[in-house]
Amino acid sequence: MSFGELWAELLPVGRDESTGGYRRYSWTEPDAACRDWFTRTAASLGLQTECDGNGNLWAWWGKPGDGAGPAIVTGSHLDSVPDGGAFDGPLGIVSAFAAIGQLRQDGFHPARPLGVAAFTEEEGSRFGVACLGSRLLAGAVDPAVGRDLRDQDGVSLADAMRAAGRNPALLGPDEDLLAAIGAYVELHIEQGSMLDGLGAPVGVADGIWPHGRWRLDFTGRADHAGTTRLPDRRDPMLPFAATALAARQAATDCGALATFGKVIAEPGAANAISSSVHAWLDARAPEASVLQAVVEAVSEAAAEAAAVHGVGFELRQESFTPLVSFDPVLRDRIGEVLTAAGRPPPVLPTGAGHDAGILAARIPTAMLFVRNPTGVSHSPAEHAEPADCEAGVAALAAVLADLAGR
Ligand code: GLV
Ligand code: MN
Ligand code: MN
Repeated sequence: MSFGELWAELLPVGRDESTGGYRRYSWTEPDAACRDWFTRTAASLGLQTECDGNGNLWAWWGKPGDGAGPAIVTGSHLDSVPDGGAFDGPLGIVSAFAAIGQLRQDGFHPARPLGVAAFTEEEGSRFGVACLGSRLLAGAVDPAVGRDLRDQDGVSLADAMRAAGRNPALLGPDEDLLAAIGAYVELHIEQGSMLDGLGAPVGVADGIWPHGRWRLDFTGRADHAGTTRLPDRRDPMLPFAATALAARQAATDCGALATFGKVIAEPGAANAISSSVHAWLDARAPEASVLQAVVEAVSEAAAEAAAVHGVGFELRQESFTPLVSFDPVLRDRIGEVLTAAGRPPPVLPTGAGHDAGILAARIPTAMLFVRNPTGVSHSPAEHAEPADCEAGVAALAAVLADLAGR
């Protein structure tokens, strides 16, 4: 099947008609539909799908660990942020299947196993920890902690997995699987507009900025909005507002990024002072020391503002990814392959997190980026032109043929 046919099949799954964005959260119905699509598509290409203990899907051409040499794996994720775009994640998986279809059509026979992976909960949209599936696989999250992660309704990951027919007792590192993989190459839409500026359809990743997520809880006292005198209030919204402004200032001062994209005010009545405000800080910086300075500045500003308003304050880290530098040997080899194919790829840094960044600590990894003319991501405005998607498939097919062909 062509890229366009595969893309069209997956496109309606989990799409919200009113916003045009995707709501594909792990272990929900849309997620199950995405997994069915993955398994069906793999089968149509003659690939065998397995689900590992962490819920990540693996479609294999050949058998990993069968003595034919370390496997080459490509892939990405199928889950989305709330009202995310169509491309972040799925582009890598659809392109992987299209590239394998192309290789089969060309009569290519891999000398070593070739796999397509779909990592679960990459966005952390349901359980809060980004790249959860790859972190569990790589031993970067304690499986007991993973099992007890809760979604917004208090449902644990363990219960969500059980409801989807999976056994949460199997969560945890899979050393045999990791040892059987020689390289992981993830194709992803660019989440910025550097390729557009350079006039190139495909680039390769240099590295990923250190980044993380922190949860801030402000606890005040619920009261009547129409009768409580201003000096008598303990309103948690006020220190939160001061903290959001302080985060912007700290990011500006340090050359970093800081975002509050998720805020929950409880109990959420328009005519009541909130009892508590929960907010999530996403912070990213070119260096870990800079990131630490930003988070400390935000934490200090929050504690100070909370004290002024008689509000309790707590901060805890939900996830952290240190600086990632992708494997230079693999990156240069990919550069040579694409240059030989007439498309020398620009090398780009990124502030976005990826499963490839987690796996980089354990196996050689690399990333290909496909041009995004809007430069927008985590939004329905995210876009890639069909011709650029085809260029991505051709680039990935060439890279896989090179890596798995010898
Ligand atoms: C993933 O897209 C992230 O960078 O948050
Ligand atoms: Mn994303
Ligand atoms: Mn992604």
